Amino acid sequence: MTKILAIDDKKDNLIVISALLKNLISQCVVITAQTGALGIKKAEDEQPDVILLDVRMPEMNGYDVCRYLKSNEGTRHIPVIMLTAVEKTSSNRVRGLESGADAFMTKPIDETELIAQVKVALRIKAAEDQLRKEKAALESVVEERTRELSKSERRFRTLVENSLTGISIIQDNIVVYQNPEQENLFGPLPRTPKFIDINGIHPDDVKKVEDFYSRVVSREERTIETDFRFYPQRGTETGAKMRWVLCRANLIEFQAKEAILINTMDITRTKELEHMLRIQDKMTSLGRVATGIAHEIRNPLSGINIYLNTLEKLFQRGGDPEKIRGILEHIQSASRKIETVIKRVMDFSTPSAPQFVLKNINKSVEDAISLSSVSLRKRRIRIEKLLDDNMPECYIDPQLMEQVILNLITNAAESMKEADGENRIEITSSFENDHIIICVSDSGPGVPGEIRDKIFDPFYTTKSGSTGIGLSLCHRIVADHGGELDLTTSQWAGARFMIRIPVRKDHQQDD
Ligand SMILES: Nc1ncnc2c1ncn2[C@@H]1O[C@H](COP(=O)(O)OP(=O)(O)OP(=O)(O)O)[C@@H](O)[C@H]1O
Ligand SMILES: [Mg+2]
Repeated sequence: MTKILAIDDKKDNLIVISALLKNLISQCVVITAQTGALGIKKAEDEQPDVILLDVRMPEMNGYDVCRYLKSNEGTRHIPVIMLTAVEKTSSNRVRGLESGADAFMTKPIDETELIAQVKVALRIKAAEDQLRKEKAALESVVEERTRELSKSERRFRTLVENSLTGISIIQDNIVVYQNPEQENLFGPLPRTPKFIDINGIHPDDVKKVEDFYSRVVSREERTIETDFRFYPQRGTETGAKMRWVLCRANLIEFQAKEAILINTMDITRTKELEHMLRIQDKMTSLGRVATGIAHEIRNPLSGINIYLNTLEKLFQRGGDPEKIRGILEHIQSASRKIETVIKRVMDFSTPSAPQFVLKNINKSVEDAISLSSVSLRKRRIRIEKLLDDNMPECYIDPQLMEQVILNLITNAAESMKEADGENRIEITSSFENDHIIICVSDSGPGVPGEIRDKIFDPFYTTKSGSTGIGLSLCHRIVADHGGELDLTTSQWAGARFMIRIPVRKDHQQDD
């Protein structure tokens, strides 16, 4: 249904216009008003589709009414056709159009023109209404999206601002954002150009942090991590407590621009615990050393005491010199035992630096085998060697390597003490991927899973009367050669120790 408002101070004109419109436009309702003020009111209340407005009216003329309608938010979208009895001069038309009118017609009204003008106005209005509707719908979508966006932004902001991790974002060498935890750690912004004030960093870590920062800004790697010590900004004057932090830098995009995200975690507590554990570990090893040494020395020492008592009695009685010599020999042997233990402990705690010479490692293997062959024969252990004849020469300390292999053979033999049947040890040497490989395998019981990670610890032993130094010493010697010592399982389900040493062109070793 089409609603048309006609405003004219002459009732007759209104009657004519109403009749005309009703006749010519289907489903048309005509509302009328006889003054400008009333017309404005009806336009606001009724929201007609078109307004036909007479120009010449007392009190408020058509131009003023039109100007008002077009400046009012609630009516400016309604097309206005101005009707005037005056000459349709160009100045009148201009005045009318300037006041905001959409069309201009002169009286007496030409029916066809009026209908045509009304129809055009209706079409424009319908198109504008549609546009306004679409605009409103679009606005509400945008509003909804903006609401969602700010909701999700609030959510993330809450997460970031309450995070236990310090977070800062650097763009063009300036910290553009930091969360409260980061401020808590490194102090307030601005703090340019570095992400942390260099004065707060522990002097020993300044270089490390500078390197970290230059790697970060070089953008060569996407993620970089470092840890360092620093003194927090607040309370620096009086003995601020040193903190440890772990920093991770990532390249990200922030507000459509490349940026660096730095995550900082206070790891002071972890570092303190690590330090305590290290001390505890040292104390435990010290305890083990002390127990080991005490254990090793106690037996020969109590032997010495017993022999000394006997000696004293024999001496008082003027005893047999042969007997006395025999006892003295026992005492000497016990004292030598003590000396050996002490030497072994000293060897471990202050090892001699390796003397590297260019040698074929097969020679050390042969020497170790021949040294142990008598005792192995006695224990009825068969030793087999499968040595590669084409082993290259390599910088090694032959004595130390011999000591390693001898230790491994001794361990293998000791593991088979209680075993029945055929006891075997096999030693192989080979050369693979620039590495010399020596394997000592046995047919003993093997190393139980639960102690595999302990056997290389100094002073760890499962044997009574042993110090537990052997494997840790071997491990250290092999490491001094830049190599590795690993435990696997032998072909007889016993133990296999594998030494892997890189063949070097010179005798310089890694630290
Ligand atoms: N071939 C092996 N078979 C089974 N267990 C082994 C073997 N070699 C070492 N072990 C285990 O590893 C432990 C540690 O060996 P390590 O050589 O360090 O000390 P140890 O032989 O007990 O004492 P030490 O070598 O000082 O006389 C041994 O006590 C033993 O339990
Ligand atoms: Mg041993």
